Amino acid sequence: MQFLPMKTLMAHALKHRYAVPSFCAWNAESMETILQVCQRLKSPVILMAGPGEFELLGPASNAAVARALLAKYKVKAALHLDHGDSPALVKECVKAGFTSVMLDYSTRSFEENTTALKKVCRMFQPKGITVEGEIGAVGQCDSTTVEGSRDCRLTDPDEAAEYARITGVDCLAVSIGNAHGTYVKLPQFDFDRLATIYQKVKIPLVLHGGTGTSDADLQRAIALGIAKVNVATALITAYRESLLNQWNAKQNLWVPIAQGAAIKEMARAVEEWVLRLNANGKA
Ligand code: 13P
Repeated sequence: MQFLPMKTLMAHALKHRYAVPSFCAWNAESMETILQVCQRLKSPVILMAGPGEFELLGPASNAAVARALLAKYKVKAALHLDHGDSPALVKECVKAGFTSVMLDYSTRSFEENTTALKKVCRMFQPKGITVEGEIGAVGQCDSTTVEGSRDCRLTDPDEAAEYARITGVDCLAVSIGNAHGTYVKLPQFDFDRLATIYQKVKIPLVLHGGTGTSDADLQRAIALGIAKVNVATALITAYRESLLNQWNAKQNLWVPIAQGAAIKEMARAVEEWVLRLNANGKA
């Protein structure tokens, strides 16, 4: 298969009441594991990478590896730039073959965020690229993550409507009590706020900080317009804990064997999330 525009996947999800899982993928093994699980479960998927993942494989290599792997699988997938931090990175990712981009200017002023996103939309939507913006700011729960801002600011529904109208973004990341990383206690989502945002913007909404969200909250969020859920920490944690356990048990640490065991743990996390988002059987 070839990568599809992310908005096609999200439109299907909205219509059929599930959310597309969007997983961080930082190397060939993580990408192939995600694709294998999603093919087996017949789930659409979004492979995403941003500045944190580009530490290992830069945009051009990330996209080349992802494309080569997807050619072997029958999976409806998009390749997404997550938390892009500059228009230059957005441009580089589109050039490399990403089918969707997020420019995260959520911590900047409304004017700056709006002007920059409008520009990205005008430039890349005509090329079939999906654009994600964020209004309000999704923060971090702890230091297990590199994503999101230090501070959290809830999304104001009127501001969100204005932002969507001016920029023309295809989808919107919202801040409703969610945060990136490992929650210390269950987050309290503001569902009234979510419902009002969706009523006003009427475009697919994105939940960042998926890790640690309860099943009940996920189902409720999906019913209120969330069409994509970003999950990174759950995968990274499964992988990292396997490596640490192997290290502590002083097992054979031949790197490919140790990583092979770790990636199996990550595969379990991928499967769990596909099922939790009701995405199995949807592709
Ligand atoms: P978690 O790491 O909390 O799952 O969030 C991931 C995310 O939102 C990436 O954008």
